Amino acid sequence: MKKDVYILAVETSCDETSIAIVKNGNKIVSDVILTQMDVHANYGGVVPEIASRMHTENITMVLEQTLKQTDITMEDIDAIAVTYAPGLLGALLVGIEFAKTLSYVYNKPLIKVNHLIGHIYASIFENEFKFPMLAVVVSGGHTELVVMKDDYDFEMLGSTMDDAIGEAYDKVARVLGIPYPGGPGVEAAAAKGKPTYELPKPVDDDTYNFSYSGLKSSIINLVNKEKSHNNEIRKEDLACSFQVAAVDEVARKLDLALKNYDIKNVVVAGGVSANQYLRSELKKVTDKHKANLYVPSLRYCTDNAAMIGAAAYPLYKRQEFTNLALNAVSHADIIN
Ligand code: KG4
Ligand code: ZN
Repeated sequence: MKKDVYILAVETSCDETSIAIVKNGNKIVSDVILTQMDVHANYGGVVPEIASRMHTENITMVLEQTLKQTDITMEDIDAIAVTYAPGLLGALLVGIEFAKTLSYVYNKPLIKVNHLIGHIYASIFENEFKFPMLAVVVSGGHTELVVMKDDYDFEMLGSTMDDAIGEAYDKVARVLGIPYPGGPGVEAAAAKGKPTYELPKPVDDDTYNFSYSGLKSSIINLVNKEKSHNNEIRKEDLACSFQVAAVDEVARKLDLALKNYDIKNVVVAGGVSANQYLRSELKKVTDKHKANLYVPSLRYCTDNAAMIGAAAYPLYKRQEFTNLALNAVSHADIIN
């Protein structure tokens, strides 16, 4: 009988310290996600130095808690996986050095994982991948449409030319006085409003590229203008108008891709996939094309180590291991 494979995965690319044990690439044995959100909220966004320090302070305890949830021991682990890119350099380095130490001390192979690819694999815990797939990556740092013909076989259709969708949510939140993290706050405000403000369409063309800086700037200008005239800003309506414009753009590009490619499986990845309006709008598009839409469960939409363990599994099968010279890379796409 084939032996089960247990991967211990480490994720510290931003403001979550997370460690998980994943069995055979698609079953979460145990996982801990420690968020630093409350601390960074005091500053209106993630402070890199604080993030690194808190990862350092907490990572050993996070490992202990992860191991406490299961009978699996470090000796049973087959490989150590770690996020090496993209993300905050100092934050990534804490996870990388920790993973290297585990790999050295317990004599386990080390696997480096791209964080964005991790987000794509976050939905494998509910549904096995059926290739070819279209991945819609909507995170804090990236907005991308990617064709996936097989594990680690990517073709980029388009990406953002400036701001990412999550970044736009966060910036709009700031100008509307909604506390960090902005995405969920804007979603909650939008749910109470109507799309009554007229805003420019992000990229009104037939490419797969995205642009969110124009939409963001138009909202900042609008708020400033109304404030200078002492006019009231209908926060809920403006949040709703922004959300409709931002999400409709993703839906429109997905529609175009499903028209042009014979693909029946769509996976949504990244923090903004937690957004219910985005989920329901994308579902309308996949229903129209008789395609399946796979979204991660809410816990695994935002940063977590389980998705890193899942994304490491195809690399484990190919024995694609790295060594102790591994370094962090701050900027990276799915295809480097
Ligand atoms: O994927 P992620 O952890 O970041 C990167 O890997 O870059 O996602 C974080 C982003 C933030 O911009 C956050 O505001 C956004 O995801 N986000 C949301 C929601 N939850 C998180 N955006 C809209 N609606 C949400 N419910
Ligand atoms: Zn992320």
